Amino acid sequence: EQQSTVSITVVGASGDLAKKKIFPALFALYYEGCLPEHFTIYGYARSKMTDAELRDMVSKTLTCRIDKRENCGEKMEEFLKRCFYHTGQYDSQEHFVTLDKKLKEHEGGRLSNRLFYLSIPPNIFVDAVKCASSSASSVSGWTRVIVEKPFGRDSKTSAALTKSLKQYLEEDQIFRIDHYLGKELVENLSVLRFSNLIFEPLWSRQYIQNVQFIFSEDFGTEGRGGYFDHYGIIRDIMQNHLLQILALFAMETPVSLVAEDIRNEKVKVLRSMRPIQLEDVVIGQYKSTTKGGVTYPGYTDDKTVPKDSLTPTFAAAALFIDNARWDGVPFLMKAGKALHTRSAEIRVQFRHVPGNLYNRNSGGTNLDRTTNELVIRVQPDEGIYLKINNKVPGLGMRLDQSNLNLLYSARYSKEIPDAYERLLLDAIEGERRLFIRSDELDAAWALFTPLLKEIEEKKTIPEFYPYGSRGPVGAHYLAAKHNVQWGDLSLDQ
Ligand code: BG6
Repeated sequence: EQQSTVSITVVGASGDLAKKKIFPALFALYYEGCLPEHFTIYGYARSKMTDAELRDMVSKTLTCRIDKRENCGEKMEEFLKRCFYHTGQYDSQEHFVTLDKKLKEHEGGRLSNRLFYLSIPPNIFVDAVKCASSSASSVSGWTRVIVEKPFGRDSKTSAALTKSLKQYLEEDQIFRIDHYLGKELVENLSVLRFSNLIFEPLWSRQYIQNVQFIFSEDFGTEGRGGYFDHYGIIRDIMQNHLLQILALFAMETPVSLVAEDIRNEKVKVLRSMRPIQLEDVVIGQYKSTTKGGVTYPGYTDDKTVPKDSLTPTFAAAALFIDNARWDGVPFLMKAGKALHTRSAEIRVQFRHVPGNLYNRNSGGTNLDRTTNELVIRVQPDEGIYLKINNKVPGLGMRLDQSNLNLLYSARYSKEIPDAYERLLLDAIEGERRLFIRSDELDAAWALFTPLLKEIEEKKTIPEFYPYGSRGPVGAHYLAAKHNVQWGDLSLDQ
């Protein structure tokens, strides 16, 4: 059998994402022995750089897992020897032709597979895809392209992007990344549901009162204001990361674990969602604040953001899935930048125990929050815990709420791989389960586009919240309107 090789070209090699995520993930895969024996990595960007300079740049980004320190330096050296650089314009056929020649030399007549990672701004996506596919496609093996969001800004621009990409690529060559799908706890959602008897029977309107998807960051747009102002938090986090998790959470049991079966179920959820009402949405924007003598900037203090920008850096929304399983259950989302903490979590709040014996005469007992809650902590401190009512040991009858707690760091000694490692490996192996199919993308935009248009047309003023705070108080009223209280980490211990 002819030996095969994979060539990975990182287009936009000097960018932030490449340095922070892509090169380190490729190295981690190499270290774990997950890359094929023959592989070559090319950095492609406009600036002039030598192979040595690229290696130097990449080497600064590499780290070894804590449990894998031995021979780490050696492995890095070996890895860096497989990294090369090619200077080129993103829209130049000629420059991609030279790349093709170089790739061929490395491939040395083996069956060649080629992966292009487009880590470049959206306005040059299509040009780069055009050049890569017509001038640097593999002739003997597969050619795949990983693309990162933004996939347009609404239904129309997203459809136009898909159409342009499909002029040069087949759908099965396009790997649309949503890196939240590569996170360990998000992948585990289906395992939790479908391989434990005790959860799936509860997974419906009958037992679940509401579900919450919460994303928060304790820093602002820091240098990304130019990009961010064009998109806002709803497009940046909700329409993709949180909605993808929601779809996985709420989908029916797929026929199998094959990518198409899972994606079929996810797209059904998305298409069953009720149009989002503006009354069910709260938007916010962070403002400057001074705490302990330190002044934190407001969103519009960012030089790349217009002073009068109304772009939301925070949003909360109540969504509904109009199907038999979820009829009437609020799915609440909350996403914000410059909040008091960094975390991502899924919270499932169960209904009250009907006729709860212990709730009748609660005088003297501590029963303010008595419903069960399942929390899936995506990051940091990955874990899963279930809040239950428990008798406080002693002669009296006092209950408190405690956690059945699966904390990953205590249970598993292995460090959790970064989302990009899993996704890159899947792309190399042709596993599409964790990538977004075009009909899923269309459904996600169909849900959010009318809302975004309404907010923009009405010039809705965001509620201002201080940098580092818990966000606009409006989010609490929104939850209360649906008879819900936001879960809160600080109340969980
Ligand atoms: C990206 C957003 O998709 O996800 C960023 O564009 C955000 O605004 C980032 O900071 C968060 O990812 P993570 O993996 O750090 O939670």
